[in-house]
Amino acid sequence: MRLADDEYGAVAPIYDAATAWALDPLRRELADVVGRERDGTVLDLCCGTGRQCYFFARAGRDAVGVDLSAGMIRRAARLEKSQAARMNFVRGDAARLPFPDASFTACTISLALHEKPPGMRPVILAEMLRVTRPGGLIAVVDYLSPHTGAQATLSWAVKAVERLAGRDHHAYYADYMRQGGLEGLLERQGMRTIDVRRRMFGLIGIALARRPA
Ligand SMILES: C[S@@+](CC[C@H](N)C(=O)[O-])C[C@H]1O[C@@H](n2cnc3c(N)ncnc32)[C@H](O)[C@@H]1O
Repeated sequence: MRLADDEYGAVAPIYDAATAWALDPLRRELADVVGRERDGTVLDLCCGTGRQCYFFARAGRDAVGVDLSAGMIRRAARLEKSQAARMNFVRGDAARLPFPDASFTACTISLALHEKPPGMRPVILAEMLRVTRPGGLIAVVDYLSPHTGAQATLSWAVKAVERLAGRDHHAYYADYMRQGGLEGLLERQGMRTIDVRRRMFGLIGIALARRPA
C-alpha cells in the first residue's frame, strides 16, 4: 500500500455520521477494557476519524492513532482540536509502523484487517505485537464467522455493504470470512486469545490477547 493512496478520502467526511451510532458502543467497551490496563500510551491502528482514540482519551489514556488516509487523518486532527484530548494522529502504514519495539501499553485495530490483502494481515498483526510492551494488551475488533442460522442470515447484510465498497475490498472480505473470520485469523497467527466478545448480533467480535511476556 502506498502512502499516496486515499481509498477512504471521499468517505471520510460522512464516515462518523454513517457509523458512530453502531460502532460507538463497541469503542466505549474497548476503551473501558484498555482503561483498566497499566498506565502508558495506547496505539490504535487504521484509526479512521479518531473516534476510538477519543474514547481512550476519555478513559484517561494517552492515545496515538495511525491511518493511511489523508482524509481520515484530517478528520481525526479536527476531532483532536475540538476536544483538546490527549491524543495524537499520524499518517502512516500499519504494516510498517514508525515506532520502536515495545513503545505502547496496548495496541488495537478495528474493522480493518478483513479488508486487507491476505498477505498483509499477518504483517500488521506482527507489527502490533512488536510495538506493544511484553505482557501488553492486543485488541482486534472485526467480523466473526457466523455460529448460528440467524447470524448467517444477518451476515448477508454485511456482505452487501462490503460489496458496495468495491471489488478488491469485497474479494479480501470474502477471503477473510472463508478462512474463519476473526478467530481463524488469530489462530493462524498463533495468537492465543484471552477473551472474544460477540457483539452486534454476534457479527462482530472484540478479541483480546496479550503479547507474550
Ligand atoms: C473501515 S475503516 C475503520 C476505521 C476505524 N478503525 C473504525 O473502526 O471506524 C478502515 C480504515 O483503515 C485505514 N487503512 C487501510 N489500510 C491501511 C494501512 N495499510 N495502514 C493504515 N491504515 C489503513 C483506512 O484508511 C480506513 O480509515
